[in-house]
Amino acid sequence: MKERLNLWFGKTKQADRVDITSGKIPKHVAVIMDGNGRWARKRGLPRVAGHHQGMKNVKQITMTANDLGIEILTLYAFSTENWKRPKDEVDFLMKLPQEFLGLEIEELIKNNVQIRMMGSREGLPEHALRPIEEGIERTKNNTGLILNFALNYGGRKELLYAAKQLCESVSRGELKPEELTEEHMEAVLQSSGLPDPDLLIRTSGELRVSNFMLWQMAYTEMWFTDALWPEFTKEHFYEAIAGYQQRARRFGGI
Ligand code: FPP
Repeated sequence: MKERLNLWFGKTKQADRVDITSGKIPKHVAVIMDGNGRWARKRGLPRVAGHHQGMKNVKQITMTANDLGIEILTLYAFSTENWKRPKDEVDFLMKLPQEFLGLEIEELIKNNVQIRMMGSREGLPEHALRPIEEGIERTKNNTGLILNFALNYGGRKELLYAAKQLCESVSRGELKPEELTEEHMEAVLQSSGLPDPDLLIRTSGELRVSNFMLWQMAYTEMWFTDALWPEFTKEHFYEAIAGYQQRARRFGGI
């Protein structure tokens, strides 16, 4: 792998050649996979063709993350707001988990990848949820990359649900409000057990967080690229990692 990564040119000039394997690799990378519709429109194709190509790219970027030694890759696959899209598009998106896992589960298992999910199971059709649950079950003992799908996920919903759980603990007398800590909050988030993302990548030139991991991204480094998700290559990924490696993370300190 080292040899392959050494061949990477961060920009096109020889002088900008960067070996990302000698720098700090982020533990947790979160990705807002944006731009599928524009990718399709540029080619005169229906929007769903962009989503399909985007699904294929999930495989490539998962394998790249695994090769790089990233521990967790969280992918924003469907937000709580995406239900507002036309029914045909939503229906298509809901078929993708089944297609993706049908095609890739054996390869993911071979590569020791563990599948997880964040988001509300309620409201997801059975044909979307079942393959994910099966994937989670089949990979639960794997110890390699955690591939964490954010599906039917919204940061505000997650926080609201967490607040309700904490209120219930208080009303049951298990906790006093003055005893509440960040750790209590983290324990009731859907990302519980995972470290916060070190790096957020958003494709397609949009500069927003779009209700994604609002609590967890307090100190996440952000990388925005104009590349549309279906054309986001491993070289774009290396570039984001190289950018991350140049940041000084102070977490509010000096
Ligand atoms: C945003 O692009 C993308 C989505 C809402 C869907 C992302 C889903 C995938 C990439 C595939 C997921 C794969 C699995 C296995 C679940 P957009 O449609 O908003 O793009 P646009 O802004 O160009 O219209």
